[in-house]
Amino acid sequence: MSNNKEKPIGIFDSGVGGLTIALEIMRKLPNENIVYFGDTARVPYGTKSKETIIHYSRQIVKFLKEKNVKAIVVACNTASAFALDTIEKELDIPIIGVVKPGAKASTQITESKKVGVIGTEGTIKSKIYSEYIKTLDPEIEVIGRACPLFVPLVEEGWTHDMITEEVAERYLEEMKASGVDSLILGCTHYPLLRTLLKKVLGDSITLVNPAYETALSLDELLRENDIASDGDKGTFDIYVSDDPEKFKKFAKKSMKEYADRVDEVTQINIEEY
Ligand code: DGL
Repeated sequence: MSNNKEKPIGIFDSGVGGLTIALEIMRKLPNENIVYFGDTARVPYGTKSKETIIHYSRQIVKFLKEKNVKAIVVACNTASAFALDTIEKELDIPIIGVVKPGAKASTQITESKKVGVIGTEGTIKSKIYSEYIKTLDPEIEVIGRACPLFVPLVEEGWTHDMITEEVAERYLEEMKASGVDSLILGCTHYPLLRTLLKKVLGDSITLVNPAYETALSLDELLRENDIASDGDKGTFDIYVSDDPEKFKKFAKKSMKEYADRVDEVTQINIEEY
């Protein structure tokens, strides 16, 4: 594979959540080959320190480079918040995260100049969304809320469940009253809760899906660098750091339309990198 255009795109996340980004990328760029890494042995990232996330991300980038990727997508919000800037400086290929595309879209939507962000503790504490949004429009007020229970609820498959709805009501009570008119789903898993969140929040709050926005940004990035694939239907190679079967089951279910592309899931020892 000497042709740069046919080299794969590397996507990584702390686990299964990044599949929401892989899904949007496949929809937007069906001809791209993808190598996905889910760090299932070390998930969650959302509660870990910046130093740890940088260390993990460096190891994963090393692994993906070995797979000869032409560009990298940091699908994890927490890793985008903590490690993207550092890694970008160390890399010789293009890399994007999910924060900037989602943040930018919210600034184009909001009329009330009040934007909400939900995510892991790490992402919300980092204030990354708020900082970036303020560089685009200093008048916008950003209201953040960590929703740590959403990740396990999604992984349990309770995306349309009464319990999850109650949890969402609790988490988002203040958000609803705050006057935000757009809400960034700042965590990989949250796009899977879109229907439920719409029900809880009503029609006056527009949900921003960074997974979708990232696919658009990736498209632009590949074109700008003249490395967009012009091949046929892309491949999808999946690597994980823990039980491949569990991952495969979740992937087949959450990516129904591409279930035929979820074939082999290979376990690797990421600590070797
Ligand atoms: N992938 C993480 C994120 O988007 C959520 C899961 C975790 O905490 O690792 O921040």
